Amino acid sequence: MSARLLNKRILLIVGGGIAAYKTPELVRQLVKEGADVQCLLSKSGSEFVTALTLASVSGNKVYQNLFDLTDETEMGHIQLSRNADLVLVAPATADLIAKMAQGFANDLASTTLLATDKPVMIAPAMNVRMWLHDATQRNLETLKNDGITIINPNEGDMACGETGPGRMAEPVEIMEAVAQALMPKGPLKGLKALITAGPTHEPIDPIRYIANRSSGKQGYAIAEAIAVLGAETLLVSGPVNLPDPEGVRVIRVETALEMAAACEEALPSQIAIMTAAVADWRTKESAQEKIKKNTDNTPPSLELTENPDILAGLVAHTLRPDLIVGFAAETEQVMDHARAKFTRKGCDWLMANNVSPDTGVMGGDFNTIHFLTQTSEESWEMLSKQDVALRLADKIADYFLETHKLEKQEAR
Ligand code: CTP
Repeated sequence: MSARLLNKRILLIVGGGIAAYKTPELVRQLVKEGADVQCLLSKSGSEFVTALTLASVSGNKVYQNLFDLTDETEMGHIQLSRNADLVLVAPATADLIAKMAQGFANDLASTTLLATDKPVMIAPAMNVRMWLHDATQRNLETLKNDGITIINPNEGDMACGETGPGRMAEPVEIMEAVAQALMPKGPLKGLKALITAGPTHEPIDPIRYIANRSSGKQGYAIAEAIAVLGAETLLVSGPVNLPDPEGVRVIRVETALEMAAACEEALPSQIAIMTAAVADWRTKESAQEKIKKNTDNTPPSLELTENPDILAGLVAHTLRPDLIVGFAAETEQVMDHARAKFTRKGCDWLMANNVSPDTGVMGGDFNTIHFLTQTSEESWEMLSKQDVALRLADKIADYFLETHKLEKQEAR
């Protein structure tokens, strides 16, 4: 599932034109991409679409009246306009465009538009003569100069019977324009990244499980740093006590088998960073009921079986990511074990660290990394897990800029 608008809040202002009938479909498209859509329905807009329909498709209360005291207590128009990541006006009528250009504020829609400090996009819809009129074109020029983005109307048959430009852009076109405007821009734009993090829990019975001390902090920090650079980032996380990182889609799993399945689903991805401390073994059969103590007090024996190696699975995959970064958690002879693991695993880069209890790395906020590539070895000073993430993200950006450059040269 793509979710380019995940965690994005959009305030949709519905103006009073026949094209308002398309706004429930527009809301549906935005929601499908993960957006949280809040609708503001103008009085004239409510002649063409009902508040109930917009509330149903958005899953949110619809705002209609500036002087509705409950709304003003719950969320005033100023807050409404600031709460969003983007304000979208669709349909933007000639009247509303004129009001915006002049800075009028005599109803909820115009007041909110004047009060906002967020990016504004408008999807105009009107009769062809009204669209071509000098006054409208002058007003549009003013709005452009004010930094407002115009999603141009299409040409075609209009509800009024005339033909020409003025038909509101289709909901999917408006959604695309919004997604383009809100998607992070950075060196990793257009790439997909898969990151695993945290431990896995392997059930023994419904109550007990095999686990490890991984906190997930390093993987979460990396996911956020990669997303900031513009990659569409998926974090597959074992059970941890951390909030979802900003701008990242998170799938939470319990077991290694679930983690492996979620990673398989995430392909193709160009970048894979495997920070998870995946349990190497699971019980051959997890008991359906709680295992009771033996009457003679002998402990039960657990039969274990090996979990799939998710990293090795990606390395051998037909959809192998372009860059696979493995981690090596060691407690002794760190470099020797790391070098052997690097050769064995076949990943492109390896981040090795000492996780023995006296280092405080497991669960702590700092990490000391040995960074291995096919041609080099670096030992980083002790850094916060955030700084480790930033340094790795920079290296990944350099890597893709470099390979991209090479591809361009080859193409010449
Ligand atoms: N890994 C994985 N799936 C597994 C085990 C490990 O994807 N079933 C990944 C980890 O996410 C990490 C790398 O492989 O990126 C190395 O993990 P680590 O636990 O250090 O090594 P193991 O392969 O488990 O080897 P050992 O336990 O013998 O050190």
